[in-house]
Order: sequence, then C-alpha cells, then structure tokens
Amino acid sequence: MKIIATNQDDSRSRMRAFLTQEKRKRGKAIDPYFYRSDIVYQEELGALLFKSWIYAAHVSEVPKSGDYVLFEIGEESIIIVRDKNHEIHALMNVCRHRGARLCEATSGNRTTFVCPYHRWTYSTDGSLRSARHMEMREGFDKADYPLKRASVAIYMGLIFINCDPHAADPLGPFSHLDAQLGAYELEKAKVAHQNTYKIPANWKLCLENYLECYHCAGAHPAYAKRHTFQDLSANVAADVSAMLQRAPELTGVPGIEKEHERIYLDAESFGACAEASRYGLYEGFLTGSEDGQPVAPLMGKIKGYDGGAGDFQVGPVTFMLNYPDHCVLYRFVPRGLTDTDAQVVWFVNGDAEEGRDYDLGKLTWLWHQTTQEDQFIITRNSKGVNSNFFEPGPYHPEFEATLQKFVAWYLDTLERAVAAPAQ
Ligand code: FES
Ligand SMILES: [Fe+2]
Repeated sequence: MKIIATNQDDSRSRMRAFLTQEKRKRGKAIDPYFYRSDIVYQEELGALLFKSWIYAAHVSEVPKSGDYVLFEIGEESIIIVRDKNHEIHALMNVCRHRGARLCEATSGNRTTFVCPYHRWTYSTDGSLRSARHMEMREGFDKADYPLKRASVAIYMGLIFINCDPHAADPLGPFSHLDAQLGAYELEKAKVAHQNTYKIPANWKLCLENYLECYHCAGAHPAYAKRHTFQDLSANVAADVSAMLQRAPELTGVPGIEKEHERIYLDAESFGACAEASRYGLYEGFLTGSEDGQPVAPLMGKIKGYDGGAGDFQVGPVTFMLNYPDHCVLYRFVPRGLTDTDAQVVWFVNGDAEEGRDYDLGKLTWLWHQTTQEDQFIITRNSKGVNSNFFEPGPYHPEFEATLQKFVAWYLDTLERAVAAPAQ
C-alpha cells in the first residue's frame, strides 16, 4: 500500500478538525489533506465505498454456472460468480482458514474454488465444501466457514455489489430510471469492449472530474464539438428543449426524456444514487462518433435518432452516457491512496456482431480519447493539489454544482463516521 503521510501526527481527531473547517467554507475546493491522508482514505473505504452500491460486472460476463470475474476495489478482491443454480454471488476472495487469496485469474469457469495454501475447497455459492483433515478438530463445522460475501442487486443486467451485507435494497431508488434506462435493454446488451484506465491520483479527483464539465470545452475538444453539455444551460436551452420534445416520438420510447435526480445526500437510501437526464448533441451528430454517424445498430427499444444522449448515474461512482446505438459506462474505484481504476465499458445491442455491425475502433474512438484526456488532466490535478502552495479556489456555481453535491455528501458521511468511537 502506498502511504503518503500528511504529517507524522495524523489522527482521527486531526481529521475531525479538518472536517469542521471544511463545513464552514463550502463553495471552495476541499483541502489537500483529504487527498493525502491515509487515515482519511481508510475511513472513506469503510464509511462510503464499502457501504455503497457499485457496478461490478454485466450478467453477460458470467452467462454459465461456474463463470466468474474478479472485481477489485481498494485492497479487496471480490469474486462475482454464477453458482450451479444460476444465482449470482459476490464472494470475498479470502480463504476462511488463514486468509490466502483463493483465485488469481481475473475471469474463468470453476466448479469449486480451491485455496492454494492448505486446499480448503469452496462451492461456487461460497459454502465450504471440504477442509482437509479438519475433522480432527473437535467441534469443527464446515457450515461455520462460508466465504464472506457482499450484497448483490441486479438492475437491467448490471450487477451491483455492496460490501455492507445489511445494505438497503437499491432497486426501489433505481426504479425511477426504468423508462429512461430501460429504453436500451441493457439486460440483453453485449459488452463490446472494456478497459481499465489507471490514473495515478486519488479517487475523489477522478470522480470530481467526471462530475463537472467546466473542463470539457478546453480539455475535450472532440467531446465539446459534439455535446451541448459543455456549454452553460442557458446558451443551449432552446436546442435542448426542442430535442426533448421530439425525443419520445423519434426514439419510440415514452418517458425517455424524463428527468430524475436523487443523488448523494438526496439519495433514497445510502449509496443508491439515481439520476437520469437527456442532453443534446450538436446539429449534424446523431451519436458520439467521429463523423456523427451511427457506429452500431440501434439499441433495445430505440427506433430512431433524436439528436440526444441519455445521462445516468446509478450509485455514487457509476455513470452511463447512452447514445441510441451504443452505451458507455463509467466507474471509478480507488486502488490505493493515489491510484484509481477508471473502468469504461462499451455496450452494443445483444445481437450486434463485430465486423458486421460495428467496428471496435469507431465505436470506442470518442470515449477512449476523452478518457485519455481526463487521465492527463487528473494526473496534473493530483500533482498540483499535493503542492504545498495549493490553496483551494472557488467552485463555478453552475458547472461545478453536481460536484458540490458529492462533496457535501462526502463531508457529511465522514463527519458522522469519525464522530463514532474508533472500532
Ligand atoms: S489459508 Fe486457505 S486453506 Fe489455509
Ligand atoms: Fe473529462
């Protein structure tokens, strides 16, 4: 683990003092302390990330019994596996004997998970099937040692996990997106491509960057040429409202234009943010491609191009940008204090075939380029906030409004966590 000690005397009481100071000065970027303290990072994992609903995989990645993929977050490795009854589980990749990691390959098919250390063997539902010679230990019962697990919720084929086994079901909060996100029939979609972009920066810098488009006009020339979201809403209001009016008819999906926003402190239950909106593409662009022309067959129930794109948030760190012919999912998770995985997943309609219906290079062109541009600016942002001369500046009231909602939730949650006595 990479540790950057802010100060040798970093402590929960120091963190509490910083939180109090932050709450007083809302409206300005947060203190660099929060990007540099390992105590803060550990608290964030426990109080925010391990209690939130986070996208782990798509059902099509584990179609058969025994299929699994690993999802890695922080120092944790979680096995997303389909058992022999076809049920999906999220099992902690940690043996219940003396803690060895069970499974190294990032995906595959298994009838059992056998620990490489002393060969304890687990079924794909997480139960302990055999523990070599342990019958010699009096009272030993295999039923007492199943793999630990995270909660699982499947929404439209997207597998969400929550490391809190008592987390509230997120399907109620998510159901407000049924019409808008349902248009794409993601449960039948296919993962055309996915990539993990490693960003050498604290996870909050990556998330904060996603939550604002103040930087889009300068940092993302290709994105800015195609998406009206890069501009102030008053400047593009007429075009966006014309698009919203024609959207249900042209896409053939009633309700696709409806807005919903219950995120962060307003989420219906902790870590179950849900947001849907539709924003306009500039004239001449039907989709997010280089020439503005379609790059794949229309998705799900969608019947035509309305010059719009669906913008979604599902949970605190998972987002989607959905064009009529393809969908792009974003997820940010920490892998250390100053290391973040930005996962990007490109979905196409389930029956689309590469080479015949879509070209991978054309499909991924815009968001591969845009993510690399983000990687560049976030890396520089990280260097800057770690400077002793950085003084947090003011947020833009419109462009950085959503980012401030995240910050408010973040400070509130941490404050409550550190108010409780240390575990
Ligand atoms: S640590 Fe897994 S069997 Fe011993
Ligand atoms: Fe960006």
